[in-house]
Amino acid sequence: MQIEKFVDQFELLAEAHGITTAALLQRLERQDDDRPRWIAVENGRGIGVASASMTPDRKVRLWLDCRDSIAYQPLVRAASAAFRTDVYTSVSGSDLLLRRAFTAEGFRLDYTEDVFAARFTTAAVALRKARLPDGFSLITADQADGRSWFTLDNTLRQDIRGNEGWRGDLKWFAEHTHGASNFDPAAHIIAVDDTNGEYAGLVRFWNRPGASPRLGMLAVLRQYRGCGLGSALLARGVEVASTWDHERFTGETAREATEMRALWIAMGGTETDSRQTLVLRRGD
Ligand SMILES: CC(C)(COP(=O)(O)OP(=O)(O)OC[C@H]1O[C@@H](n2cnc3c(N)ncnc32)[C@H](O)[C@@H]1OP(=O)(O)O)[C@@H](O)C(=O)NCCC(=O)NCCS
Repeated sequence: MQIEKFVDQFELLAEAHGITTAALLQRLERQDDDRPRWIAVENGRGIGVASASMTPDRKVRLWLDCRDSIAYQPLVRAASAAFRTDVYTSVSGSDLLLRRAFTAEGFRLDYTEDVFAARFTTAAVALRKARLPDGFSLITADQADGRSWFTLDNTLRQDIRGNEGWRGDLKWFAEHTHGASNFDPAAHIIAVDDTNGEYAGLVRFWNRPGASPRLGMLAVLRQYRGCGLGSALLARGVEVASTWDHERFTGETAREATEMRALWIAMGGTETDSRQTLVLRRGD
């Protein structure tokens, strides 16, 4: 097997992703995607791809998409050798072969998240008593001041496992909200402190084609926690996402996020999988 750095081998890349060349070109253009990629080639056929992206917290993340697990380790080795900084990846707890390929190349566990799923009906019953505390309002993303919403998102991320050190990037934020193909402003809800106009917390749900809606984030600024704001945001988000014709919604929550885990359990959520974030540390 050989590993080729992707330059313009579109047919090989499409084959390695298991899609047609036309679908690949459409996807690359739609997402304005020029991430570095490596293709695993076996007997002239593309059998797997590793791609790397950098998020605004300056973390390099690797993603693998393979037709055959023999491509895992050579791809991990080639892609991680291209960076001098720490490299992160995320693997499903049940994908032992993929995890083994990363650990064989020096990756170690950073943290674990559990994947929860809950029924909309059960969640709505559990949250029926959630009330917005006096002195707060809820607005949706299309009513929000873009700069304040962006600042809130950055501040809240500091308390979310894996997002520590996140330094906002307005362009990235725009691409991952209004610019995202499945963005529905009604499901991006912000709590506002009416006394001073401060944005105090947010919830967001993603409407994913062909998959259950995903609770992307629920977070409240520290000074506003414990008075029902989180439950009120969640209740509204569940109400909106329940109109998308799915029975359940899912979301990932870090093992140490005690309050969010309590909310999942209260909503009748069950753990369906886990995700492990692995890191290859450089310079330890
Ligand atoms: C999760 C979070 C949004 C809850 O916000 P909040 O405004 O404090 O929520 P509420 O006051 O409505 O409380 C909601 C529930 O959280 C749980 N909870 C709140 N504070 C808690 C605490 N100190 N210990 C344990 N559970 C707690 C309880 O189950 C509570 O429900 P109850 O009051 O009916 O018992 C908030 O803790 C937060 O922002 N955490 C950091 C971000 C995060 O980890 N988000 C999850 C990953 S996306």
